[in-house]
Amino acid sequence: MEQANGFRRFRRLRQTPGLRNMVRETRLAAEDFVYPLFVTHGLNVRSEVPSMPDVYQISVDQLRGEIDELRALGIGATILFGIPEHKDPAGTDAYNPDGIIQRAIRAIKEHDPDFVVIGDVCLCEYTDHGHCGLLDGEHILNDETIDLLARVAVVQAEAGVDIVAPSDMMDGRVAAMRRALDQNGYLETPILSYAAKYASAYYGPFRDAAESVPTFGDRRSHQMDPGNAREAYAEIAADIAEGADAIMIKPAVTYLDVIAGARERFDVPLFAYNVSGEYSMIRAAGRAGWIDERRVTLETLMAMKRAGAGQIITYHAKQAARWLDEERAAARRGAPVATG
Ligand code: PBG
Ligand code: ZN
Repeated sequence: MEQANGFRRFRRLRQTPGLRNMVRETRLAAEDFVYPLFVTHGLNVRSEVPSMPDVYQISVDQLRGEIDELRALGIGATILFGIPEHKDPAGTDAYNPDGIIQRAIRAIKEHDPDFVVIGDVCLCEYTDHGHCGLLDGEHILNDETIDLLARVAVVQAEAGVDIVAPSDMMDGRVAAMRRALDQNGYLETPILSYAAKYASAYYGPFRDAAESVPTFGDRRSHQMDPGNAREAYAEIAADIAEGADAIMIKPAVTYLDVIAGARERFDVPLFAYNVSGEYSMIRAAGRAGWIDERRVTLETLMAMKRAGAGQIITYHAKQAARWLDEERAAARRGAPVATG
């Protein structure tokens, strides 16, 4: 619109914390966050992951306290990863009805039935070779693997999981899981597919946490090439056609374009996975005093929402929830807010 002196004064609405807060287009809230938990065997285990400060492998008995802490911060969902006592070539603990994740799901559901529990579905944490499926030599067998993944989904559903989330990137896994869930009476168990999961170097710290480093090779024969975006939309369309109820883009920061593109094209809930390496880099620079960790973290999470993610899986969830609380309290006092 034509202005009196020929230019538009954008600064008018940036003058005070109150104005900035009022016109902000995107808001972060603890309700958006899903906090990943690494559940390990043993009793009374709380073992910090060296490459991920403040992230722990915990035993099943520690889950109640953990869930209470998340609840108190306003976080209502977790995604579970398991570290079994025994690994084997077929990853049997993943689909053992009494496996580590099935026990974790039951423990959380007994304690707090309404807390949302998402079960990651893959074999790499359970196989002794660290690959996401059954091997023939060094080749991952697609169709044999999806049968096992379907069994994982069913045992997790039996244990009471709210959502199953396949992260393996085999072809046809969503259809196989949907069919198996339906045949076993779990018509109402949703599938959140890691639809566009890239072969990313940013998963390094996670593999320390989940003890899932492959003993040879890498995951490039099934995870996506970082140069591809159109292929991501084809993957997402296929997963939705196979029955996915919600989709995920992973990693988040380096794939904001894919998040934005997926938001435009698809009308299902869209999760962003703010992965381990993204977390560790911010924590490391923050600890060194090189960046303002609080502002960098909140700005990074905000970017994912602005790009179009509705939900964010993030190891920063607890810290971010505390910071957001502080900012809301400051806003109530009329004090400046750091995210503004
Ligand atoms: C298992 C899985 C991985 C992540 C989530 N599920 C690792 C991988 O593919 O090696 C990565 C999460 C993170 O880096 O935080 N397939
Ligand atoms: Zn895997």
